[in-house]
Amino acid sequence: MRHITLNNGIRMPILGFGVYQIPAEQTERAVTDALAAGYRLLDTAAAYGNEEAVGRAVRNSGISREELFVTTKLWVQDAPAEHNTRRAFETSLTKLGLDHVDLYLVHQPFGDVYGQWRAMESLNREGLAQAIGVANFYPDRLIDLILNNDITPAVNQIETHPFFQRADYQELMRERGVQIQSWGGFAEGRNDLFANPLLAEIGKEYGKSVAQVVLRWLTQRGVVAIPKSVRPERMAENFDVFDFELTDEQMTAIATLDTGKSLFFDHRDPAMVERLGKHRVDA
Ligand SMILES: NC(=O)c1ccc[n+]([C@@H]2O[C@H](COP(=O)([O-])OP(=O)(O)OC[C@H]3O[C@@H](n4cnc5c(N)ncnc54)[C@H](OP(=O)(O)O)[C@@H]3O)[C@@H](O)[C@H]2O)c1
Repeated sequence: MRHITLNNGIRMPILGFGVYQIPAEQTERAVTDALAAGYRLLDTAAAYGNEEAVGRAVRNSGISREELFVTTKLWVQDAPAEHNTRRAFETSLTKLGLDHVDLYLVHQPFGDVYGQWRAMESLNREGLAQAIGVANFYPDRLIDLILNNDITPAVNQIETHPFFQRADYQELMRERGVQIQSWGGFAEGRNDLFANPLLAEIGKEYGKSVAQVVLRWLTQRGVVAIPKSVRPERMAENFDVFDFELTDEQMTAIATLDTGKSLFFDHRDPAMVERLGKHRVDA
């Protein structure tokens, strides 16, 4: 299964390429290499400062637009957010040099989220954002957003990796028609993930690396993954996960690595709400 179908019928690759923390001047090279390795889903954000470079790589790739799935994200907006959101979207679209995006996400559950969402619903109805969704929404906020708006988010992009697996939340989202997408699928290497003995042992059986076991585990669970790398050999390695299958026993063994806690930060921590919620990105 290389694609999943979102709640509005749009098809999305189950494995893509993320560009967070790739400096703008390295991003065109990295995305060009990722497209050459076979990736067709690209994940950027206004806050990453590299949308222009992503757009250049897309335009110079020679790959038809219909084959590509481009995601970008709206940073936190003040109330009333309808006007600000549309302006921020138009800035992103101009930077990307595209006439539409495939997925537009509310990046953080802060600011005038309901105003942001109403504006995104309009962008979706106009076909400028083929699908709309959210990121970093914990269940309480996701359910409330669903209950009080017309369009159910197609995607919730959340921290998901072997040490924070989100299985119960994935099930809740499935019941509501929201696709889970993992960010930080490798936990950015924290907890010594790439040397994890259990994941390494499982990989040995198939001649696969820890990174490949993690991506296989995510995609086999139906989680969309977007690993980041600036190295072409790792991009190729991370894309080569569709020729083996983990057994039920191996999936159960990997489940024991779950700590049920973030390795980064809690979006409900008041200090974090204040830090991220006050930050603004020029648009
Ligand atoms: N919505 C949000 O709030 C949010 C937050 C964070 C991330 N994201 C998205 O999710 C994407 C992925 O998350 P992430 O970038 O934070 O981290 P990640 O994919 O978990 O980890 C990236 C790190 O792993 C290394 N790496 C990649 N492949 C490897 C391999 N095969 N073997 C060993 N090391 C490897 C990379 O180093 P090299 O580059 O040197 O290879 C980099 O240091 C982001 O790029 C972004 O698009 C979204």
